Amino acid sequence: MLKVSGLSTGYGKLQILRGIDLNVAEGGIVTLLGGNGTGKSTFLKALSGLLPVWEGSIEFDGQKIQNLPPHEIVRCGLTQVTQGKDAYPAMTVEENLKLGAYVRKDKIAIAEDLERVYSFFPRLLERRTQLAATLSGGEVQMLVIGRGLMARPKLLMLDEPSAALAPKIIMDIFATINRIRKSGVSILMVEQNVRMALLLAEYGYIIRDGVILIKGDAKDLINDPNVKKSFLGGTVANSTHEIKA
Ligand SMILES: Nc1ncnc2c1ncn2[C@@H]1O[C@H](COP(=O)(O)OP(=O)(O)OP(=O)(O)O)[C@@H](O)[C@H]1O
Ligand SMILES: [Mg+2]
Repeated sequence: MLKVSGLSTGYGKLQILRGIDLNVAEGGIVTLLGGNGTGKSTFLKALSGLLPVWEGSIEFDGQKIQNLPPHEIVRCGLTQVTQGKDAYPAMTVEENLKLGAYVRKDKIAIAEDLERVYSFFPRLLERRTQLAATLSGGEVQMLVIGRGLMARPKLLMLDEPSAALAPKIIMDIFATINRIRKSGVSILMVEQNVRMALLLAEYGYIIRDGVILIKGDAKDLINDPNVKKSFLGGTVANSTHEIKA
């Protein structure tokens, strides 16, 4: 469904990504892993049309989408949930969610999708009339994922959904991401929580300094000695078996 070939980009004259190849199959979860500053968010920004693609191509559902304006990319079915939990604090939960449907006009379907988001995140239904400013960190993460779903994406891109959350909340968020995938939305997930991400995804890519270092089936990567040595230093190691349940 998504086929990225030889993608290079950067900021001004500063090159960050150097020829990235990455694929996402329909119905799957693919994870892009790597440490701070390795180019993960830069990659998602290029896919979303927020950064110009210098070289390479991005094909989505058979259509070349590189360098289309961001709203057209959303309309094609590719939606990014950005890093940093950017809810609008002075708007209610429901107003925040409705913003996610900004490229759409189909009022009835939007109302259905709102119900669907509330079914994934019952907590948001309880809080629907509250200002986003009153939410906890985990609830804000639910809100921004829910807002992404309101664009009715075929592929949802998540930038570090587990960042800065407590282990229990991370489990909830990852379980819900799995349910979202099962409902038919493919997922490309950027993470630093390598073990958790590999337990959820089918396929993983590890990026360093703007190039893909290692890629493979998630179950192979989790046992790969190089991955273990560099990335699986024991973080949240024991609390992760229930994600797929
Ligand atoms: N707006 C910008 N202008 C210039 N350089 C930038 C800009 N945004 C990011 N960079 C640089 O690009 C490189 C990759 O950053 P990026 O945000 O893609 O990393 P990341 O893998 O998402 O890291 P993190 O896990 O910390 O979010 C870093 O060296 C960063 O300093
Ligand atoms: Mg980032």
